[in-house]
Amino acid sequence: MTRPTTAMRRAMAEAEVGDDVFGEDPTVRRLEEETASVLGKEAALFVPSGCMGNQVAIGVQARRGDGILLEEFSHVAYVEVAALTALLGLRLLPLHGDSGRLAAETVAAGFVEAERQGPIALLELENSHNWGVGAVYDREALRRAAAPARERGRPVHLDGARLWNASAATGTPPAAFAEIADTVSVCFSKGLGAPVGSAVAGTQALIREARTLRKQFGGGMRQAGILAAGALHGLGHHRERLIEDHRRARRLAEAIAQVPGIRIDPATVVTNIVIAEVMPHERVQDLADHTATAGVRLLVFGGPGRFRAATHLDVDDAGIDRAIDAIATAARALGLGRP
Ligand SMILES: Cc1ncc(COP(=O)(O)O)c(C=O)c1O
Repeated sequence: MTRPTTAMRRAMAEAEVGDDVFGEDPTVRRLEEETASVLGKEAALFVPSGCMGNQVAIGVQARRGDGILLEEFSHVAYVEVAALTALLGLRLLPLHGDSGRLAAETVAAGFVEAERQGPIALLELENSHNWGVGAVYDREALRRAAAPARERGRPVHLDGARLWNASAATGTPPAAFAEIADTVSVCFSKGLGAPVGSAVAGTQALIREARTLRKQFGGGMRQAGILAAGALHGLGHHRERLIEDHRRARRLAEAIAQVPGIRIDPATVVTNIVIAEVMPHERVQDLADHTATAGVRLLVFGGPGRFRAATHLDVDDAGIDRAIDAIATAARALGLGRP
């Protein structure tokens, strides 16, 4: 939802460009170098979307027919399943997590069971976790979850679409998370506010292969420096402010927890994602429609009767006040929570 800021638009308008399919766009190169450096990896590749970042990273580490282990509500399992099966020919082996986070025993048992059916190429983890109310693995928990793959010599892909948020929430540098994985995908849209763009990072050799797969997927972009400039601006200017989004999300959660007919445990809100449950469940779309008339958009998402609200660059403290007011007004108008 986030719109590029004036400063970001200016950086985009003034970007130096070239043909990136020939590796000649200086701004894309700079973005790839800075991203690799922030993530502590040898190389990075600019891709149009988070989905493509995950697909090319997984695609260069698995062969057709291989299985991949991942959490059942991960973005890859839930949204990208058709790409993984139809385009890459992979088997998905979903595991049960705690708000999206996998325990080491679950992963180890998953390997044992799944390997009976055929080879497992890779473990996929997500930090922060979208469906898990933006839940975060701290570094040690992520290392433990990855350990069973490491012990078997299998690669780990980290879907870090919101790794910047995980980092802001824990104070752990992105590279300290990325170190645990062989490949990491990150988004410059979402929290960093760029209009388009993601990246995948890993070794030089893997990123070379990822570049070829990106082209096969139709993701080669020409004068892409205009987009890379927006991403670079977000990377340089919008990471430190993410804690403000987190603080506002918590305030929103605490306020709507008081609204009759809305259920949420504010303690679960540690990043910018708020997921609440509407009672009765069948009124959730009515609630979202009602708040939309006041300019507050809620996404019906995350399970029966649930909606998601996400704080971002365009939402200030007054915006949170408006959101609280719109949700309370809608719940009253719909008679939620009345016996
Ligand atoms: C965890 C996660 N990974 C990947 C993506 C995909 O990103 P995109 O929409 O840029 O393809 C999303 C999008 O919401 C996401 O939440």
